[in-house]
Formats: sequence, C-alpha cells, structure tokens
Amino acid sequence: MGLFSNPKHSPRSPSYLFPSVVALCLLSLTVLLLYKVDDVVSRTGTVVGHNLEPTPWHVFPQKTFDDEPPQRRAVKIIQCSYLTCRYATEDITISSSAFEKQPRWDCPGFFGAIRRDLEPWVSTRISKKHVEEAQKYAAFRVVIVGGKMYVDYYYACVQSRAMFTIWSFLQLLRRFPGLVPDVDLMFDCMDKPTINRTEHQSMPLPLFRYCTTKEHFDIPFPDWSFWGWPEINIRTWQEEFLDIKKGSRAVSWKNKIPLAYWKGNPDVASPVRLELLNCNDSSQWGAQIMRQDWGEAARSGFKQSKLSDQCNHRYKIYAEGYAWSVSLKYILACGSVTLIISPQYEDFFSRGLITQQNYWLVDPLELCPSIKSAVDWGNQHAIQAEAIGKRGQKFMENLRMDRIYDYMFHLISEYSKLLDFKPTPPSNALEVCIDSVLCYADDKQRLFLSKSNVLPSEAPPCTLKPS
Ligand SMILES: *[C@@H]1O[C@H](CO)[C@@H](O)[C@H](O)[C@H]1NC(C)=O
Ligand SMILES: *[C@@H]1O[C@H](CO)[C@@H](O)[C@H](O)[C@H]1NC(C)=O
Repeated sequence: MGLFSNPKHSPRSPSYLFPSVVALCLLSLTVLLLYKVDDVVSRTGTVVGHNLEPTPWHVFPQKTFDDEPPQRRAVKIIQCSYLTCRYATEDITISSSAFEKQPRWDCPGFFGAIRRDLEPWVSTRISKKHVEEAQKYAAFRVVIVGGKMYVDYYYACVQSRAMFTIWSFLQLLRRFPGLVPDVDLMFDCMDKPTINRTEHQSMPLPLFRYCTTKEHFDIPFPDWSFWGWPEINIRTWQEEFLDIKKGSRAVSWKNKIPLAYWKGNPDVASPVRLELLNCNDSSQWGAQIMRQDWGEAARSGFKQSKLSDQCNHRYKIYAEGYAWSVSLKYILACGSVTLIISPQYEDFFSRGLITQQNYWLVDPLELCPSIKSAVDWGNQHAIQAEAIGKRGQKFMENLRMDRIYDYMFHLISEYSKLLDFKPTPPSNALEVCIDSVLCYADDKQRLFLSKSNVLPSEAPPCTLKPS
C-alpha cells in the first residue's frame, strides 16, 4: 500500500485519485486470482491423492494432508502440477534407427499372454466409448501423446501405488524415447479384478490393473512393487532379487530346513490363508506357518522380515491374499521349491510358470495332506526338488527390469494398435513428468524412486512373435 504512504509531505490532490483506483482494481484482481487459485488447487487431484476420495469399490482410510499448512499445500500443488513439467528440461531423443545394428531377439514365451489379454477387442477394436465406460472402474487415466504423458485422477490409491505406477510409465517413456505409441487407457490400482466376463460380455471394458482371472477382462500390468514399496521397505526388484539370491546361497540345499514355510498376514479375507493355519505342524504336515505382524515389523524397521533372510527352508508356500500377492516373486526368487496353492489370480509374469517344472502345485481342497506329500516327495528326491527350486529362481532372474519394460512396451503397443481413435490429451488432465512425481515425493519415496531411474535403452525391445 505504498501509494498511501508519506501523506504528510504531499497534500491530497485529485492526481492521487487515479492511483488509488488502480490500487483498488489490483487488489480486487488479486483477491479474485487468489480465489481462483484456491478453487483450482482444491480441484486438482494429485499423484499422492490430494483432493481425491478413496476408490469406492475398495475403501481405505482417506489420506489427510493435515501436516501441511493450506498455503504450503497450495504452493506445492501449483508448483508440482502446473509448473514443473512446463519447465522440465528432460529431452532425450534417440532415433529408433540407432537400434538397427543391434541383434534382435525373441521375447519370452509368456509375452504371448499379451495377445490373449487383448483378444476381446480384436474384432470390435477399442472405441472412445469403451475407454469412457471403463472410467467408472478406474482410479486414473493415462494418456500418452507424442511421448508426453497426461494423467486424469478419479480416485486416490492406497499408499504410494499411484506414484510408483505412474513412475513406471514415465520410466518406460524414458527407456524407449520416441518408441512408445500414443495411447489412452484406464487404470485401477486396487487388488481385485472387476470386469466380470459374464456381466460385461456384450461390451468388454479395457481396464488395466495388477492382476486378472480367467473370469475377468482386466488386463494385467506389472505391479508397483517392482519399482519399490517404501511403506514396507521393499526396494526395487533388481536390488531385492540380488539380495534374496545371495541370501538363498547362505545355506546349502542339504542344510536347508526340510519343511514347508509360510510367513504372512492371514487376516486379509483370504480363506486359503486361514485354512493354512491348520497345517502348522511340522511333524504331521511338514509345515511351519508363521504370522507376520506388520505392526511389529514396522516398528522394528522390517529388520526381522528382511526378504533375503527368509530362504532357509527347502519349500516355500505361496498363498493368495485378498487377491494376487506381490510376494510370489520374492518367494520364487529364494530357489526353494515354491508350493503354489492352486491360484485363482494371475499377474503378468505368473503365466510363464510351469507346474512341476519351476514350481509345485498344491491342491487347496486337500491343503495339509497336499503340502505334506510335496515335502515327502522332495525330501526323497533331493536332486529333482533342488532343480525345481533352481528353475523357479532362474525364471525370476530372467525377469529383469529390462524384460519388464519390454512387456509394458509390447502391451501398450498392442493395445494402442486396437484403438479406433487418435488419443488426445483430455481437457482436464495435467502433464506428468519425472520431475513432477519427484516434486510430490517425500524424502523416503524420492530415495526409492531414484533407485529405479533408467537410461535410454541401447537395445530395442525384444521381438514379440507374430500371433
Ligand atoms: C460374474 O458374474 C456372474 C453373473 O452375475 C456371477 O454368477 C459370477 O459369480 C461372477 N464371477 C466372478 C468371478 O465374480
Ligand atoms: C506355528 O507353530 C509354531 C511352533 O509351534 C509357533 O511358534 C507359531 O506361532 C505357530 N504359528 C501360528 C500362526 O500360530
């Protein structure tokens, strides 16, 4: 209000009227602008869940941002969502022809599942209507146009799933600059598939999530934990795998405990996990079933539950939880015989597992006896049992991050080929870039995210065999 200062030395005159009118106008404009900004801020959904409700189909405690004063929150949202990508200088361009000298090689067999997952749309193709209808089941929408990514948020995701999943898309764009085609897709980040094949028979809806079943149209996509899960101190897949493999070698096969081991949370509305508690008898059923107390584990910094220290048994049980479980990859990585209780859910890579080759299938209807007979067989056929364990571990070793990006690349490319419209950035979607995700990340998340920052690939993606 400098205009009104020093009135003593300058007597009031009409010439002062004009500046005061200007000042008043500026003031009202500022108030209007602040009001507008406030309005925009309170309507902006973010990768950490500002202004978003939890998914109604799987309610979880809503995130509050009470620790942030409202002004700080507003500045952060303006800065991270509206300004960061605009001024980001990320510009890596590599022509795809740079790959041409590189030998191409075929993708692993389980990539064939991409075609099966997308089969429902081969004859109808995917229209704008398909995508819009799928929105009812989605937490967010990802649109990629010209190598830039836009995200429209509908609901918050539990913990940091949205952040790490969106990060995975951004890393894919970084890894294959100029190669990822334009795409428009809906994503749900909660566990259970929702697009029932019977109910949606007349119009299958394309919805990406972390798993599917034979009875659902949902399209499986690599889950967030490959890039890290800071809430429970799980690091990137490559770091975890190497550590688990090292841990698994600490004890030779002969010296591993000749029992089947499971450690987890039985209280996740999973009948099979409850049933498993009945098998906790090492002499009768050859099994050791332990309860994972997440509260206690969190308090002790997850030292007791370090994944690499959990490979001391010859047999490890995998039991689905509320839906599929991220634990499958860590269990297989141990090199023990993985006893998989006949699964209902599949994720993108589990379609590559072959029973009695790289894991052992357990009958859920005869749960304890079935575990017992696997353990007895393995202890009598040590060489074969060890070989099954090793092949399971090898399968996971081959599932390097490179292959995971290849899978994402081919899934998105094949999906994109089915679109019967040209994707355009949705009017209310904001551009998201690596810096804007980092802008929202807290210190711990930033540490985890930075471990999975990729460089542009020197080799092209593997070749997806023609169908
Ligand atoms: C799919 O829907 C049908 C018909 O409503 C129902 O009978 C079936 O149980 C559902 N399947 C799943 C896996 O929910
Ligand atoms: C299973 O049995 C062991 C040994 O008797 C015990 O320490 C453990 O707490 C039991 N697990 C559960 C889930 O009750």
